[in-house]
Amino acid sequence: MNQPVILLGSGGHAKVLLDSLRRREFDVLGVVDPARTKGDDWLGCTVLGGDAAVEAYLPDRVVLVNGLGSLPRDQGGRSRVWQHFHSKGYRFLTLVHPAALLADDVALAEGVQVMAGAIIQAGTVIAKSCIVNTGAIVEHDCRIGHSVHIAPGAVLCGGVTLGDAVHVGAGATLIQDIRVGAGSIIGAGSVVTRDVAARQIVYPARSQIQDLLR
Ligand SMILES: CC(C)(COP(=O)(O)OP(=O)(O)OC[C@H]1O[C@@H](n2cnc3c(N)ncnc32)[C@H](O)[C@@H]1OP(=O)(O)O)[C@@H](O)C(=O)NCCC(=O)NCCS
Repeated sequence: MNQPVILLGSGGHAKVLLDSLRRREFDVLGVVDPARTKGDDWLGCTVLGGDAAVEAYLPDRVVLVNGLGSLPRDQGGRSRVWQHFHSKGYRFLTLVHPAALLADDVALAEGVQVMAGAIIQAGTVIAKSCIVNTGAIVEHDCRIGHSVHIAPGAVLCGGVTLGDAVHVGAGATLIQDIRVGAGSIIGAGSVVTRDVAARQIVYPARSQIQDLLR
């Protein structure tokens, strides 16, 4: 029997997670968002109030889902929510969409979220609070640090290592055995063929637009 769930946040990322939760038949008690009015309906969920509303439930009676998304230069809200509720004894759900495909020995830590169509291959280990977003591919034997976001359609070839809080942009490709240091950003569409140190930003080649002469 699954524990009842409280969803934190009600933006785009939360909306996608809510769909996952329903497909996995979790009992969603409600959504917490200080920007909404307590008692309102949000996509069929009751708005419970702001952060304090969670504390009406004992930490061992509910599990939280972190619905705050993670942008390349703004992971603040997501980690703040994690720290705040963890320090009070609450735990975060590890949630895998039923249409994701994971090898049997993949290890997912607390709070990892794997979205529809993602594929994670054998021997990969993913630390707490990461997002493996829609249609991303994480090949065999990757090591992923905590709070990493692998955005939609990104591809990590075998043996890639990502430090904590790395953002891999949508559609980026990292070839085999690449290592990326903590806090770095891989721009959407990049092809990464060399290691990246910590706190770097990788920009890909850009499309050139010009008049069609004919
Ligand atoms: C790499 C990235 C973080 C750059 O952000 P930034 O430094 O704030 O860059 P800016 O938006 O100021 O753009 C600077 C220039 O680089 C270009 N650029 C930025 N990102 C680019 C990308 N991924 N591919 C090609 N060109 C890019 C911009 O068009 C702009 O060009 P201009 O100066 O000619 O106008 C960002 O564009 C990116 O790729 N983010 C990933 C988004 C993502 O994964 N979203 C998933 C959410 S689920």
